[in-house]
Amino acid sequence: MDIDGVEKLIRPELRTMRGYDPVEPIDVLEEELGTAIVKMDGNENPYLCSPRARQVLSSFPYYHIYPDPLQRNLRTALSGYTGFPEKNIVCGNGSDDLIDLVLRLFVRPGDEVLNCPPTFGMYPFTVSVIGGVLVNVPRVEGFSLDMAGIRAAKSDKARVIFIASPNNPTGGLVSYEEVVELLGMGLVVVVDEAYFEFGEGSVSELIADNANLIVLRTFSKWAGLAGLRVGYGLCHETVAEYFLKIKQPYNVNVAGEAAAIASLEDVDYIRANVEKLRSERDRMSSELSVIPWLQPFPSSANFVLCRVAEKHGSGAITTAQRLRDSLRKKGILVRFYETPELRDCLRISAGRPEDTDALVTALVEAWNDA
Ligand SMILES: Cc1ncc(COP(=O)(O)O)c(C=O)c1O
Repeated sequence: MDIDGVEKLIRPELRTMRGYDPVEPIDVLEEELGTAIVKMDGNENPYLCSPRARQVLSSFPYYHIYPDPLQRNLRTALSGYTGFPEKNIVCGNGSDDLIDLVLRLFVRPGDEVLNCPPTFGMYPFTVSVIGGVLVNVPRVEGFSLDMAGIRAAKSDKARVIFIASPNNPTGGLVSYEEVVELLGMGLVVVVDEAYFEFGEGSVSELIADNANLIVLRTFSKWAGLAGLRVGYGLCHETVAEYFLKIKQPYNVNVAGEAAAIASLEDVDYIRANVEKLRSERDRMSSELSVIPWLQPFPSSANFVLCRVAEKHGSGAITTAQRLRDSLRKKGILVRFYETPELRDCLRISAGRPEDTDALVTALVEAWNDA
């Protein structure tokens, strides 16, 4: 069979589907741009992982043995960190893996999944891959949820709603009351707390009375382990059993598991870095807020979304995109979105003080050149 024949066998909806827009690897970029990179586009942790995690990885004796499919040691360590019993915890190959598991557990082809853009792109991406139907309920003024819109959009085919809190890329939190209201709608409510450590509060205590609540977290952001891919979910024990049943048996690899456990033994070190990033996020926000053509939105995460004024009237290429491109030439990476509601925005990850200083100087130069 030639490739045309093979393509005819591919699910038609996947042939036309738009792929996920990932960030590029640092070595590829360094080579392409010929300069050192200031990485403010991936919400990663510039303070690296904990020294204890690094040390455990260098002396780990069991790389030749498969991981524990029941993730016992990691779940025990997470139980200490979260206060939830092991039976309510399940780990994934990043929280992306848990997003995929949620959809595979609850959504059949044709079932609906509610999504509140602008938000994390993995939700629509994974819904498409599993053959679900995405129902978008855009956020309203100030990027808060359109609760009336969600109520109106929820049909009998709706199974799951995803809410990131703090939301990526807008930075705001969902309120406790909103989550309670969503839980009453007869859906599985996924509250994605990937940036929980940078914000204030969690809705996880609602799991005790709501078996339809799943809270997702990750080691990628606060613990500096994005490259090792470790996330986890907190949920009712029966839901956790289903996840354990349907997941790939070895979804968390031994290096990720060892590094995550070591990180939890080094929590004070990591929390000190989280504190530095929180205060640098706030300093960056206030520096950006005095620039007349930038409007930073409040953030409870490790990034700040900024609206950029149009310098030359709106055109095919927005000023935000021009700024992203000129910053990139100088080796400073920030996130730009093609979607209509964010085409005039940049998302900038919190960095070290010297990163913020380089960013602000380069932004002003880029605006003058734009
Ligand atoms: C809201 C949100 N959820 C989940 C993730 C993915 O986390 P992980 O690296 O654990 O897959 C991200 C990463 O950017 C995110 O912004």
